[in-house]
Amino acid sequence: MRKPIIAGNWKMNKTVGEARELVTALKDKLADVTDVEIAVAPPFTALSAAAEAIRGSNIKLAAQDMYWEEEGAFTGEVSPLMLKDVGCQYVIIGHSERRTYFSETNETVNKKVKAAHAYSLNPIVCVGERLEERESGVTKDVVKDHVVNGLADLTEEQIRNTVVAYEPVWAIGTGKTATPEQAQEVHRFIRELLTQIYSLTVAEAVRIQYGGSVKPDNVAQLMAQPDIDGGLIGGASLDADSFTQIVKFPGC
Ligand code: PGA
Repeated sequence: MRKPIIAGNWKMNKTVGEARELVTALKDKLADVTDVEIAVAPPFTALSAAAEAIRGSNIKLAAQDMYWEEEGAFTGEVSPLMLKDVGCQYVIIGHSERRTYFSETNETVNKKVKAAHAYSLNPIVCVGERLEERESGVTKDVVKDHVVNGLADLTEEQIRNTVVAYEPVWAIGTGKTATPEQAQEVHRFIRELLTQIYSLTVAEAVRIQYGGSVKPDNVAQLMAQPDIDGGLIGGASLDADSFTQIVKFPGC
């Protein structure tokens, strides 16, 4: 059985004080959750304060990106060693906003995924098509390209410790969620790809999150799909009550 994982991607939101306040509230509200793995991804500047505030709780820390080198002359970048040092267990890689605004490619995604594993950070790797790609019928080609190339050359153990986040770009921050059936179809496809590349046993162990306008009122139908193993939550993770309702989705 795959344990669902629900992660809050805060994006470029929250000062240190605001981050401390949000995680402190979540720590309290989510203390009784045992059947869902929970993570929050504050901006780099708030990681340290968030780490301190969640110590001893069931909430794990994630970063939103990283560079693949350990240290050196890479102005503005943050390394896997630094993320590990501050207490991260997860790191989001290849978010569509990074692909769109910061020239992230499958090649850089793959370097980052490998670097994350080298430091025992579990990557949450985002894949997904844009609206024009869905409309022109190439959703599966795009997703296949992201999965095959972004996750190239991983060992079985590494892929088991990787979370794939299917995020249709047209559903991110737009209020337009994929229907549970649309999401399930792509999740199934991703698991089939992993079966071809690795094996059925390995593919059955990999968690595939859905992301894109997940809210308290649509989470349960999405989570009811057999191949949806969690959510990557943007906007609705910025508020303690809505993130709590999502983590404690009915039926979980
Ligand atoms: P959203 O963002 O929930 O605000 O659509 C999801 C994401 O980008 O991870």
